[in-house]
Amino acid sequence: MNRQPADDDYEYGVRVWDLFVRVFHWSVVSCVVLDYFVVDDGKPLHQWLGYTAAALVGARIVWGFVGSRHARFADFFPTPARLAAHFRALRAGQGAFHAGHNPVGALMMLALMALVLALGLTGFLQTTDAFWGEEWLQEWHETLATLLVSLAGLHALAAIAMGRLEGTNLVGAMITGVKIRSRDGARP
Ligand code: HEM
Ligand code: HEM
Repeated sequence: MNRQPADDDYEYGVRVWDLFVRVFHWSVVSCVVLDYFVVDDGKPLHQWLGYTAAALVGARIVWGFVGSRHARFADFFPTPARLAAHFRALRAGQGAFHAGHNPVGALMMLALMALVLALGLTGFLQTTDAFWGEEWLQEWHETLATLLVSLAGLHALAAIAMGRLEGTNLVGAMITGVKIRSRDGARP
């Protein structure tokens, strides 16, 4: 049976991620996946990919101060007050939708970015005369890499799950930049 769409049941899109954020995200993912699963030999290509990932994170940190609205740290930095409000809303079964990053997701993103930087540093140190051949440093590098890839897996699963909970496609939004949201939910 046909009916006119009611004012509150059609979908609308919110432009959330600018081009920089999207290119940053999928470029870092590519560098990390290649470095961990394909070229994990520590040779120049591995180093180059790792430095590229670290440089992208460096640029993202700058963008976090000058970029578009939802790209800014001020928009999503996971302060205790924001985390508490998020958990309260989740417990009450409402308000899960965030136009930008939700505070728990934001915590994970900061951890992922810190790990990429730590890999750049531990990788670089292995190439210096002072630390060349140090086994403990190689072990740290490997452990940090495994932690990064494990947390990234969790992060990807959480993005899929939270998207369902929020009634939107978060992964699609990281590709197109637009979060599609049905009008009956909380407004961004
Ligand atoms: C996203 C960043 C990076 C990831 C995920 C990553 C991951 C890895 C992994 C999984 C290994 C193999 C560990 C093993 O099996 O022993 C490795 C080795 C190595 N990485 Fe990285 N790495 C990154 C960045 C870098 C950077 C920036 C450099 C240096 C400039 C670097 C230098 C090395 C070296 C020299 C080794 C060989 C260590 C050995 O001889 O066992 N890595 N890396
Ligand atoms: C090595 C792997 C990964 C790393 C290091 C990583 C890192 C990040 C970072 C740093 C952000 C914040 C983006 C920003 O504000 O600039 C982010 C967001 C996001 N990532 Fe990833 N990511 C990885 C893999 C993935 C994968 C495989 C998926 C998809 C299945 C994914 C989906 C997303 C989504 C949907 C967001 C936005 C979440 C939201 O709407 O709040 N990520 N990721």
